[in-house]
Amino acid sequence: MATDVSATYPPPSDFAAQAHVKSMEQYREQYQQSIDNPEAYWAEVAADSHFFEKWSRVLEWNPPFAKWYVGAKTNMSYNCLDLQIERGRGDHPAIIWEGEPAEADGTPKDQRTLTYSQLRDEVCKFANALKAQGIKKGDRITLYMPMVPELAIAMLACARIGAPHSVIFGGFSAQAIADRLQDADSHVVITADGGWRRGNVVPLKANVDEACGMVGNVKKVIVLKRCENEIAWHDERDVWWHDVVADASTDCPAEQLDAEHMLFLLYTSGSTGKPKGILHTTAGYMVYTRHTTKNVFDLHDDDVYWCTADIGWITGHSYIVYGPLQNGVTNVMYEGAPNFPDWARFWQICQRYKVTKFYTAPTAIRAFMKQGESFCGQCDLSSLKLLGTVGEPINPAAWTWYHKHIGGERCPIVDTWWQTETGGIMISPLPGAVPTKPGSATLPQFGIDAAVVDAQGNEVDANETGLLIVRKPWPGMLRGVYGDEARYRKQYWSTIENAYFTGDGVRRDEDGYFWIIGRVDDVIKVSGHRLGTAEIESALVSHESVAEAAVIGYPDEITGEAVAAFVTLKGDAQPGNDLEETLRKHVATTLGAIAKPKTVRFTEGLPKTRSGKIMRRLLRELATTGRIEGDITTLEDLTTVAKLRESES
Ligand code: WT7
Repeated sequence: MATDVSATYPPPSDFAAQAHVKSMEQYREQYQQSIDNPEAYWAEVAADSHFFEKWSRVLEWNPPFAKWYVGAKTNMSYNCLDLQIERGRGDHPAIIWEGEPAEADGTPKDQRTLTYSQLRDEVCKFANALKAQGIKKGDRITLYMPMVPELAIAMLACARIGAPHSVIFGGFSAQAIADRLQDADSHVVITADGGWRRGNVVPLKANVDEACGMVGNVKKVIVLKRCENEIAWHDERDVWWHDVVADASTDCPAEQLDAEHMLFLLYTSGSTGKPKGILHTTAGYMVYTRHTTKNVFDLHDDDVYWCTADIGWITGHSYIVYGPLQNGVTNVMYEGAPNFPDWARFWQICQRYKVTKFYTAPTAIRAFMKQGESFCGQCDLSSLKLLGTVGEPINPAAWTWYHKHIGGERCPIVDTWWQTETGGIMISPLPGAVPTKPGSATLPQFGIDAAVVDAQGNEVDANETGLLIVRKPWPGMLRGVYGDEARYRKQYWSTIENAYFTGDGVRRDEDGYFWIIGRVDDVIKVSGHRLGTAEIESALVSHESVAEAAVIGYPDEITGEAVAAFVTLKGDAQPGNDLEETLRKHVATTLGAIAKPKTVRFTEGLPKTRSGKIMRRLLRELATTGRIEGDITTLEDLTTVAKLRESES
């Protein structure tokens, strides 16, 4: 059957009838209020959160620096736990967790449920343990853990005592951990012996040991026992999680923190080689994630919500831990891979826990689509009410497959556009109000003044492509790049005057719907994960055989984009399959497996402009179409293109 990509899908009427925002009129009216009078709007929204002390001003805006809820005292952990318990949700499941190990038929070997009261007890115990280890408000704590409840517990414990966390995705390598430890000047690491991934043990503790050897500022490593794999032990530095919590009290009052107290750092790739520590603070991020989770996923008390992201990314921070818990719903958390033991696992989990709201990435959807319908078809997915996607543009064919085979043609789909820097969802349909079009993230959230402009900052006409900017501050926005004010200004606030620049290209159609095209900078999205070309290039040139490297992203059917590397070699190094494999592995060990180039091509020279800039456009053209036909008049040495063409044939 051909997919009708031009179709519009109105919100199902039964869904709309029970939704928080029920119609386009209601959306438009509320949106207009939020834009006309943002401070009144955000004051009203914040009234549903708990504050120990109220703010004196909603917003203090000294561009590009925002302070939200100035003067207020609050605590994120209190809002996720104590507030929910006060509201009578204490015995309600907060987290239903499933580990990866399973029987051949997918029956899990490890399962755990924590109610809101139990979760608070665990968080308080661990928070007291952190204090007993000498950790104080303001200390940056690095977390490198598998997807187990203790990861959420550790984050909430950090938030409870005001120690900002820096979570590092478990797929990153020792070098990546070391860089982040150093940048954050973090002296404490929380990790596990290992984590399960596709039936294998990821040696988390060994990677931490190696990273600690590279930086030398780590004083304490707290180790959770998860896989019981063998690990090295350093008595003066390492302690077991189970030992430090053994005698800890379940009573740990939440610190009354300043609204702008740093809640966390999360490192992400940009257009230079060094990852940047995106800085988020307490009150604004808290209010923004609570509000967007409620609206976009249309959460109600009986929802069983599952976001399949890893907590190591912003999606997991905002829409596994902080957003859903502040809404008091049941959160499903799964440790492992979507295809372990086979491709039915996700759908078995949906069936087992009667998931109602399901949030995943286009890459996963395309991978499932490729496997055919037999896996989802064997599961009862009738509990699902809403589906979401995030991380990269979703192609209409994958959208319609998701709608039909997972959503049974009854579930609205929310295609949510946002970024590590934005803290929360910025552009997305409200599922009871906004008709959806496959491939479009549709319209801005409340308070978000998004626009499409040309390089001079002038708004472009409907259906013209341009740059995506945001013209007003919003509560969830980043407050800076850790330790690098110049980079914060340059990266986000200098491209377009008086506006936040997202780095994305976009088109807005005649209905005002946003169609995200993708990054316009040197950032590649592989399976929705963000990689900087400069980071991969510097990993490649750190290999002894490599003289120069240029990295580009090119379209891939499953992962959205894939990495291609063009490499020139030093003196006597021999190109060939062996070296290609060695270099791919070298990138994986330096950065992490996600950064591994799909192809490595050896070349005698890289096409450069007369000013020495590598013309990635030409390489992209070559990788995508197998040809170079575009304008090459600015090229410094025309023979390099001739040689690239030759090596192609
Ligand atoms: C970049 C941000 C936000 C959490 C996951 C990624 C791309 C994100 C969409 C979407 C098209 C999207 C953008 C953005 N992106 N969501 N729904 N449609 N593109 O966070 O790693 O900070 O990456 O992801 O290019 O700038 P991130």
